[in-house]
Amino acid sequence: MGNQLWQRKPVEHFETEMKESKLKRVLGKWGLTSLGVGAIIGAGIFVMTGVGAKEYAGPALALSFVVAGIGCTFAALCYAEFASFLPVEGSAYAYSYATMGEFFAWIIGWDLILEYGMGASAVAVGWSGYLAKFLHLFDIKFPIWLMNDVFTAKEMIADATHKGTLANLATRYSDLGFPNIMGVDIAVNLPALIIIWFITAILVRGIKQASGTNNIMVAIKVVVVLFIIILGAQYINTANWKPFIPERGFYIDALGGSHHAYGLLGIVAGAAYIFFAYIGFDTVSTHAGEAKNPQKDVPFGIITSLIVCTILYILVALVLTGMVNYKDIDITAPIAAAFGSQGLSYAVFIISIAAIAGLTSVLIVMLLGQSRVFFAISKDGLLPKKTFGELHPIHRTPYKANILIGFIVSLVSAFTPIDSISKMVNIGTLLAFVMVCIAVWVMRKKEPTRHRPFKTPAIWLVAPLGVIFNLGMMLTLEWQNWARLVGWLAIGMLIYFMYGKNHSVLAKLLSKEKA
Ligand code: ALA
Repeated sequence: MGNQLWQRKPVEHFETEMKESKLKRVLGKWGLTSLGVGAIIGAGIFVMTGVGAKEYAGPALALSFVVAGIGCTFAALCYAEFASFLPVEGSAYAYSYATMGEFFAWIIGWDLILEYGMGASAVAVGWSGYLAKFLHLFDIKFPIWLMNDVFTAKEMIADATHKGTLANLATRYSDLGFPNIMGVDIAVNLPALIIIWFITAILVRGIKQASGTNNIMVAIKVVVVLFIIILGAQYINTANWKPFIPERGFYIDALGGSHHAYGLLGIVAGAAYIFFAYIGFDTVSTHAGEAKNPQKDVPFGIITSLIVCTILYILVALVLTGMVNYKDIDITAPIAAAFGSQGLSYAVFIISIAAIAGLTSVLIVMLLGQSRVFFAISKDGLLPKKTFGELHPIHRTPYKANILIGFIVSLVSAFTPIDSISKMVNIGTLLAFVMVCIAVWVMRKKEPTRHRPFKTPAIWLVAPLGVIFNLGMMLTLEWQNWARLVGWLAIGMLIYFMYGKNHSVLAKLLSKEKA
């Protein structure tokens, strides 16, 4: 049993599972690219650019997007090789099971839960910010404590007080006070909570991920991002770009927290922060089971969607920091607010609607991805099949998993600031990328003769650079994020040793074979 931890799931087992899979192979290379772009463009570009510029990189945010884009490209090239010879559903979880053994696979799977589940929480908070912006256009206002978590609400008030713009903030909310229970101020991001429950209900009833609907959503998002770039370019004041890289120092937020900002280190720290904007290209690999020609088209979809988004992101970052001085950028709905500050209400209307619709589609992808990861793990016996793998008698969806996820994710989004959630997601995902870069290299050494329809070019260079870039970004994240990651992994290990290790399907199969 001692070897069980390192026991690898043979590639042949995956191949048998794939043959048994009931999924239809309908997706071509552009369909897969479109899925990638749909999952990628979301809160990262519509929301996190605000804090990214204001608190980390200044106008050099565009360079942060370059750094994060390079790190992701290296990881994507490694994902692509895996996806080409293991075109299965579990993504990085499955790849590690085949290469590094059960224990690492479990750790990665546990890490993916962080990526998808907590990622959905962060996107829901972003969704709420744009909803508030949209409602404000029609003069519909709610109290600040019903639209934000308590930390964000207090930071907004402290920031506005500091700048003397409190009157302006008061026009956005019907009340700037907080209800108080036993001396504790209460605030809850109600829209974020509601949207998660709404989508959970849809997922429980079952959603045909119609690729036609996805294509429409993607088209709307891309057209609006182009609209932002083209219209915004006309309002750029180049004085806002000077200095392009503000002097190095620390950013101290209104609540007294501090972190690296500006200067070269600020660019890398900014990259680790806006890295969230790139998350999602790996979901293309989770659709390998539905691809017509997975070996060729999945690598194409991953890499093309990443390139398209990188170019768009760099341009949006330049436009945003050119339109508004980085010190004055709004942190809840920065892009819409930038156009609002130019008096372009119609643009605020268009951008808010697109952001609300676009973030909804990202939420669906993430929560769906989350239940698929649970499903894949429970199929291998590492999580209870009854809870995570059981299908609804009528709707045929993993409803228990969906409801459990919805419950947790909604609570996190209701009470936690977006930057804390997204940094936790980022550190977890960066770790998964580092492990995938290592795993693909290990696999080349262990099974050099295996047929690889897509080979990571110059793997001796790409894999180590992937590790260096992604680990480098991880290192700029504050110690609290590391502590949360370690805590999360520790809980994961506990579950593995108390449950997974004893219920592993593979372990049972192998011990039967031995007997
Ligand atoms: N990249 C996705 C987003 O920015 C997760 O919302």
